[in-house]
This record gives sequence, C-alpha cells and structure tokens, in this order.
Amino acid sequence: MAKDTLTVTDNRTGRSYELPITDGAVRAFDFRDIKVDEHDFGLMVYDPGFTNTASCRSAITRIDGEAGILEYRGYPIEQLAEKSTYLETAYLLVKGELPTQAQLDDWRDEIKFHTYLHENAKKFMEGFQHDAHPMGMLVGTVAAMSTFYVDAKQVTDPRSRHDQIIRLIAKMPTIAGFAYRHNLGKPYVYPDNDLTYTGNFLSMLWKMSEPQYKPDPVLEHAMEVLWILHADHEQNCSTNAMRSVGSSHVDPYSATAAAAAGLYGPLHGGANEEVINMLLRIGDKSRIPEFVKGVRAGEELLMGFGHRVYKSYDPRARIIKRTAEEVFDLVGRNALLDIALELERIALEDEYFVERKLYPNVDFYSGIIYQALGFPVDMFPVLFAIPRTSGWLAQWVEMLTDEEQRIARPRQVFCGPDTRDYVPIEKRG
Ligand code: CMC
Repeated sequence: MAKDTLTVTDNRTGRSYELPITDGAVRAFDFRDIKVDEHDFGLMVYDPGFTNTASCRSAITRIDGEAGILEYRGYPIEQLAEKSTYLETAYLLVKGELPTQAQLDDWRDEIKFHTYLHENAKKFMEGFQHDAHPMGMLVGTVAAMSTFYVDAKQVTDPRSRHDQIIRLIAKMPTIAGFAYRHNLGKPYVYPDNDLTYTGNFLSMLWKMSEPQYKPDPVLEHAMEVLWILHADHEQNCSTNAMRSVGSSHVDPYSATAAAAAGLYGPLHGGANEEVINMLLRIGDKSRIPEFVKGVRAGEELLMGFGHRVYKSYDPRARIIKRTAEEVFDLVGRNALLDIALELERIALEDEYFVERKLYPNVDFYSGIIYQALGFPVDMFPVLFAIPRTSGWLAQWVEMLTDEEQRIARPRQVFCGPDTRDYVPIEKRG
C-alpha cells in the first residue's frame, strides 16, 4: 500500500531517511536530522522569496492558481462580490462564518461606534508635509495608534483582540480620508455614521458644505465590490509581514503598519498606481507594440500582469472588469481603458506572456476604475490597504491562536568571509 512518506537518500553518506508527508507537505525541520556527522548542523531548505515554503496552516483563503479560483472561508469570490457587503465579508474572514442578521447588526454598530480618530491622532496627521504620500501618512498614523491604545499589547486576550480589530477596521477609512483631504489642503471631514461603510468613506473624501453627503449608489456599490475583492489573499508579502511582525507579540497597530508598508511597494499593492503611470506613458494604442517589445527585451515589466500564484486569469480581474463597465456607464469611459484593453489583447497573444503564463492581475483594472471614480493615483495603495485590513487581522488572530506558531525566525545560508582579525585603519589597503 502507498505510504504518505518521502524517502530521501543523502549521497554524501549513503544513508536514507523517511519523512512523513501531511497535507502534501513535509516538515522542513525533519531535514535537520540529515547530517554528515554528529558535528554537522543538519540540512536546511533554501527558499528565497518563499516560493515553495508553507509558513502556516490556514483556514481563511484558498487560491487555486491554475484554475483561477479564490475563496474566503470556502465561499467563492464571485458569490461574495455579487451578494455580500464589505463589512459582512470582513466578519466572515475574521470570525470564520457568515453572520446572522443580529451578529451583522452588532458588528456594524460596533464598527460605526469606533470610526472617529482621537483628536491627537488628527493633530499628528496635520504635522505631515502638505504633499506627503497618503500611503506614508497611513503607515505612520496606524503605527502611531499603538500609542493611543495601550490595552492593545494584551494580544493573548481575546477581548482585547476583538476591540483592536473593531478599531482598526473602523478607523482605517477615517485615516485614509484625512490623508486625502490633507493633500488637498481641505478641512478633514469627520465620519458620518448614518452612512454605510463605503458611503461614509466617500463622504470623508468629498463632502463640502452640504449638510449630508449623499453617495451615488452605483459608486458605493462599486466600492463594496472592489473592497470585497481586496479583503484577503492568503500568504503574500504584506500578510507575511503581518504574521511575522505579529509573531513577536507586538500590538496589532504596529503589525498592521508593517503589513501596510509591505503593501506600499510597486510589486505588491503599489502596482495599481504603476499601471496608470505605465498607461499614461504609453499614451496611445499605436505605441503598444513598441512598449511590449521593451518588456520582452527585459527593459521593464508590464505592470498589473503576472502573479506568483495565479497562472491563469486572476478571478478578481474578471470581476473588476465587469464593475468597471457599470462605473463607466455613470461617470463616462476612462480614456486609459482602451489602451488597457488593447494591451491585454496583445499581451495575451504574445509568446513571451503565453510561455510564462502571465495574465492580468487584480491591479490591472482596479486603478482604471479608481481613476474614473476620481481618486488620484497616490490614493490607490490606500484604497487597497483599507479592505485588506480585515484579512490581515484574520490572519493575525489565526497566527496567535495556532499552537504550532512561534516567533518567525528564518535561517540563512551564510556565505560571507571566514573568521579574520581586525585590521587597524592605517594598515588597510
Ligand atoms: N512583465 C514582464 N515580465 C514578467 C512580469 C511582468 N509583469 N511578471 C513576471 N515576468 C516574467 C519574469 O521576468 C520572469 O521571466 P524569466 O523567467 O524570463 O526570468 C517570469 O515572468 C516569472 O516571473 P517571476 O518574477 O519569477 O514571478 P514572481 O512570482 O517572482 O513575481 C510578480 C510575481 C507579481 C511580483 C511579478 O509578476 C511582477 O512583478 N508583476 C508586475 C507587478 C504587479 O503587477 N504586481 C501586482 C501583483 S497582484 C496584487 C498583489 O497581490 O500584490
């Protein structure tokens, strides 16, 4: 009968080892028994960029990259995008099940109750330079929030964890709204808790002198869909930062700031900003073949294409493309859409992209919608960070309550110089 084990022969010694296989994985630590002699440290596995290393067991998000499947807690992303709201999806991610009506009402009420920022946090934000990048403001302010909630250090207390989760999900849009108004030199708009989560966010951006801002239902709905799609994506750079930093048992504001900093980079959540810059640079459909030639020659990347996990169409990109059409019916077509559609068509037929299984990812179209909605490009990573907060927090709780998890501490393969004596400065070459 087939056994769920792996037999490894060390050709240096001729010895064989049998390692158990569980859920399609072997434990890296089992390799440490493989030694040439008793003084040997034991074999390590080397995996820069974690391309084939599972760092945790997780029950939150499942991706099948070959089939283009994304599910939160077992629910297909297409169904959630069509039928759920962002706050309900956040509940699902954090708690593991869809809420009953009473649970959802409580969750919504608790979040609405905590949307206001401490006035000193507002003053802290006022200290940023007038043209500070909103994502830098968000990262800095989220980190600063740890100084307002000292109880947040009680990370092993479920009650405290719940309180911080509510506060973070509630205050992220407020920080983002203040950052946006700060850049414009406009007064910050306080939350309006009579509005929905996304409606309130739009109000904090765009309300002027009217007594109450009335969000357009189409835009509000588009934001809900976009935020559901961005809520979690299992173990990527920012989520790994959340888990890794959180594994030191630091408070969740500091860990979320670290995760948001990871998201800021152009290879991760900053990619949607880069997509717009790239499309503007291309400027006209006639210049696409020349641009693609440069990508093929390795001169630059086609931003918004390619993914570590998806080797087929990113299901989120498909949904976004549909939502984009609804938004364009309302606000008019974004001129960059035609360039993007043509770029996608050419790339999907090009041998370079076909061979490498490079398809549009979530960022290829999200920036085009966000731009049509009237957001400046430097708000794009912020618009990604707000909804991803619920995913980060779900992953954080899972990490803290997993008895197998310990402080993250990778190994290294040392390849520096052998031991040598210090050389006085006057004797150095
Ligand atoms: N344009 C051109 N070539 C690409 C691209 C691209 N966008 N992405 C990957 N490649 C090439 C890459 O050069 C490599 O070629 P070769 O085998 O000849 O060396 C091959 O495809 C495999 O790529 P990789 O770099 O090994 O893939 P990775 O898994 O390390 O990187 C990625 C994944 C998303 C960082 C990368 O595809 C990329 O830089 N894409 C552009 C940035 C982007 O759109 N990021 C958003 C990701 S989705 C949102 C999120 O979750 O953050």
